[in-house]
Formats: sequence, structure tokens, C-alpha cells
Amino acid sequence: ASVVFNSISGLDFPINQIEVDLESLNLYKTDLVMPNRINFGLGIGKEKKWFVGSEITTIEGYETDKNASDLIKNFHTRNALQCGYCTPGMLASSIEYIEQGNPADRELVKQHISGNYCRCTGYQAIVDAICTTIEKRQN
Ligand code: FES
Repeated sequence: ASVVFNSISGLDFPINQIEVDLESLNLYKTDLVMPNRINFGLGIGKEKKWFVGSEITTIEGYETDKNASDLIKNFHTRNALQCGYCTPGMLASSIEYIEQGNPADRELVKQHISGNYCRCTGYQAIVDAICTTIEKRQN
């Protein structure tokens, strides 16, 4: 079984060439004779209904997103990343939180990013970066 996505940003080939093998949870570039395995960081299980027709933004997709550039800069300046393993998920959750118009409230930020686990930073710097971004946008 496989799921075909409408779009995935940050990839250098058309989305209509992408499908996900639900058994192995791998993305494949389907126009190649030998499928090109791409690391897939989402645990999608068998819940393909969640993803059919979905739009996915990868961390590479945020590099060119003007709405994310100040947040990414603040992640760097506030030391909100170390190994970077959690950073794509943290940024995606942060961008969602900010775009919903939420306040720079540390407790609300913690609740919003609570589905992401960071083994390195202790979270305070991540919350700092998110709150700093919101406060600077308001000024
Ligand atoms: Fe290493 Fe978050 S920076 S897990």
C-alpha cells in the first residue's frame, strides 16, 4: 500500500513522483528504476487517511520561508538547538503556534511544543527563541 502526497516542499523533484510505502515507511522517488530511499521522520503507521492529499513542508522548505526566517535566526542566537535532531519538529510546532497568533506566554508555548522531545537543550532556550520571535514581531 502507498500514499501519494500532493506536495512536499524542499525536495528537488516533482511531488507526483513521490509515494510512501506504508510497510517500510519509506518515501520513494518512483520514476527511478531503483527506488531512491529518502529518510522519513514521521511515524505514520497505517493511518493513511491522515496523509492522503496532504501538503508536507520539510525543514528544507522553511529555509526559503520568510515567515520562518526570524524564528530560525532566534533558534541560533538563543542556542535553541544543539544536535539538531528535534529542530525540524520544534520549528514546525513553533511556526504553527506563532501563525495562530498566540502570545509569548511561556506556559502556553511549552504546552504547544510538548509533543516534541529534545534530549539536549532542556527546552528553556527553545521557549526563549519562540517568545523572543513573538515579542519582536509585536514591536
Ligand atoms: Fe538535540 Fe534537541 S537539540 S534533541
